Parts: sequence; C-alpha cells; structure tokens
Amino acid sequence: MDKYVIKGGKPLYGEVEISGAKNAAVAIIPAAMLVDGVCRIENLPEISDTEKLLRILELMGARVSYVNATTVDVDCRSVGLSNKIYSLTRSIRASYYLIGSMLGRFGKASTTMPGGCNFGVRPIDQHIKGMRALGATISIGRGLIKAEAEDGRLHGAYIYLDKVSVGATINIMIAATLANGRTVIENVAREPHIVDLANFLNSMGADIRGAGTDTIKIRGVERLHGGSYSLIPDQIEAGTYMTAVAATGGEVKITNVIPRHLECISAKLREMSVSITEGDDYVVVKRERPLLCTNVKTQPYPGFPTDMQPQICAVLCHATGTSIITEGVWDNRFKYVNELKKMGAEITVSGKTAIVEGVKTLIGAPVAACDLRAGAAMVVAGLCAEGVTTIEDVIYIERGYQNIVGKLRALGADIVAVSEPDTPEEQDKRMESVC
Ligand code: UD1
Repeated sequence: MDKYVIKGGKPLYGEVEISGAKNAAVAIIPAAMLVDGVCRIENLPEISDTEKLLRILELMGARVSYVNATTVDVDCRSVGLSNKIYSLTRSIRASYYLIGSMLGRFGKASTTMPGGCNFGVRPIDQHIKGMRALGATISIGRGLIKAEAEDGRLHGAYIYLDKVSVGATINIMIAATLANGRTVIENVAREPHIVDLANFLNSMGADIRGAGTDTIKIRGVERLHGGSYSLIPDQIEAGTYMTAVAATGGEVKITNVIPRHLECISAKLREMSVSITEGDDYVVVKRERPLLCTNVKTQPYPGFPTDMQPQICAVLCHATGTSIITEGVWDNRFKYVNELKKMGAEITVSGKTAIVEGVKTLIGAPVAACDLRAGAAMVVAGLCAEGVTTIEDVIYIERGYQNIVGKLRALGADIVAVSEPDTPEEQDKRMESVC
C-alpha cells in the first residue's frame, strides 16, 4: 500500500485544476441505469469509487467504454440484476443508490447493505421510508437488501424526510424518475450534486423540479433517452486545495470551480485573514499574514460542509488563538484528532465539539488517514508542518482525490507516494468502505 512522505513548510504557488465531483459521479453512474440509450458522462473524476461503480454496471450487463480518461459512454439497455456485484457493492458507500436505480428500472432490487467511513452510525431509514412510500416492499437480512414494487412499477407519493439526508434525497429522486405519477419530497438536502443529478436526469428526459430548494417535485416519465452530460467540479476537492494554501501560505489559482459552491468555505477562510478572489470559474487563494482563529459549525448545504471539517481543523491548529469546531451532521467525526495531536496540535474533543488552541507550528510525524477527508487533513497538516510527515493508509485519500500527489507537486509541494507491497491487513483495508 502507498504511503505519502511530505517535507513540510513550503508555500504553494501556481495553478491547479479541479476534477469532476465525486459525490455527483457516484449518484449519476447508478442513475445511468435508468437511461434507455447511450449516456455519455463527461468530467468524471479518475478515482476508485467511480471505477468500482462502472464495474458494477458492467457486471450487470452494461457496456462501458472510455472515450478518454474522464469521459465514458454507458449503455445500460441490456442490464439485469446480478449477484456478481455483491463484493463490490459492499466496498462502497454509494452503492445504496442502486436500490433506487434498480427499483426504478426493474421494479425490484437486490444489493448489499452499504459500508461507509466510520464516523458514527450511518442509518438508511430515510431511504427505506422513501422506497416504501413509492410502493416497494423491502426486506433486509444477512447483509442483503431486497426490494420489490407491487405490480412491477413504483408509484408517485408524498414523502417528508425526518432528517435532511443527501443520500435519501438522491435515492428517492432516482427511484421516482420512472415511477407512475407525481412524487413530492419535502425537507430534502440542497447540496450542489443533488442539483447536478436532477440536471443529468432532466437532460435525459426526466421531469424533476425544485432541486436546490427544500422541496423536489418529480413527474414520473415512461422512459429516459440517451444524451451527454458533464459533471460539476468537486466542491470538496477545491475546498481542500483552498485549505492547503491557507495552511502553507503562497498564492494559488484554483480553476474549473463554481465559486458559488465554495462561498461557505471562502467566508471562513476570509475570517482567518486569507484573501480569496473569485472569477467566473476560478478562485485565487492567497495567504500572506498569520492565520486568525475562528469558529466553524458544519451543516447541510449551504452551511459549512462536514466533508471540509477535518481539513479546516488542520488549518486552525496553527491559527492565533482558540477556535471551536462543532460537528452538526455526524455523531463521531473527530477520530482524526489523535493523528493531528501526534504532530503537536492542541485539541480537546467533547462530544460533537473540538476546541483547537493554535500552536506556533505543527511538527512532522508518522500519521494515518482514518478516512477520506481525515486523510486530506493529514496532507494539509503535513504540508505546513516542520519536518517530515509520513501518511499511512492513503488508499482512503485516493478514493476521493484524483492525482493529489501530482497536483500538489505541481504547486511546489515536496510530497511523494512511496509504494510498498500490501500486508494481508492492508489488503482487507482495500475492501473496506468509503463515504
Ligand atoms: C453524503 C456524502 C458524505 C457527506 C454527507 C453529509 C456521498 C456519497 N456522501 O453522505 O460525504 O459527509 O452526505 O454531507 O454523497 N441519516 C439518517 N437516516 C438516513 C440517512 C441519513 O438518520 O436514512 C443521518 C445520518 O446519520 C447523518 C445525516 O443524516 O447524521 C446526514 O447523512 P446523509 O446526508 O444521508 O449522508 P450520506 O448521504 O450518507
């Protein structure tokens, strides 16, 4: 398994291009199963999560052909249910979207329970509630989820989500696209990739309105036709590079972004005395002065994203003063704090709150990536620390960041990936799940 070795303390300069959004890709690939024709998906990130989902479609009988590294043609006209997909579906969180897409396409579904980054209990009760409201009978047992629609087709329904859930919003939206009649989903999540999925489905003939607001209305259609769609850029990848520049100092132009999606992150970095200039499809991040402390509370979009919480914590570790970070989405998302403490960070966690006392500098140390975004935080910390940081378990990072080592090296970072043969324990980790 690869390790990253970082010699910290170098400011970052130059330009970095952001890849397509991981969380949009992992919703849109399963949704492609609904399309009765060839569907071209552009701006796909080159990460293991998207490769696994495309492989799942292939195992179900889809024809998947790469036009280039980031564009793929998917033809799902001859797909069918298959138990060959189970070892892959167990290894990826977003495989729960297959429940919605299989039910929408075949009127029945058969897949495994999803795994997930371990930041507390990750229930899927709201997904199940939505599918049941659309007329599916669902049974869960021995790690499998089986679902079947009465009369072979889902029907429209009114669904109120008890909790704002990105996954449930997406899953129900996918399932209802080909349902018979009108579906209204209230109290939905508003993340940019939810709007992207709605735009993708609408461009193939669906009738979905309201994505990006609290209420989504879907009029079921008989079929979707083929077409081309380009994914939005990744909000969290962009945010991670913004925090890297904030931590190290320097000046970087981050291109292929939608600045509006980054406002929640830009606002916090500005409070910390980082300068952010926005263009049409880029932001320039510049840090010349010492960082100031601030408080951060994670919330569903347009609030500060929980998936940026570890990275902003890594920056606040060496801001002047005391910062308070409150996690408003997950129950247990501070596991990585122990790794930052190995680098000299002074952080006290109490429940869903972390109190960060800024230190003069972090010191390089051997640390591990406990999950995808925690791993990104270790990279940010390593880049600004004095001395050498070695990061283990970078497989988690590579599930969500395309070519992170190459992109950072181009900005002047001293980071290398060192390959070592996998131990049996590491091979098991490869099969574990991701957010
Ligand atoms: C998605 C993201 C993940 C991000 C999270 C919150 C993907 C593939 N992953 O995860 O990176 O951290 O949004 O922005 O897009 N909940 C329930 N019942 C449910 C579903 C969720 O109680 O049926 C709770 C969860 O425990 C959590 C909260 O709702 O406390 C938000 O979860 P949700 O938005 O569903 O997260 P994911 O879709 O799993």
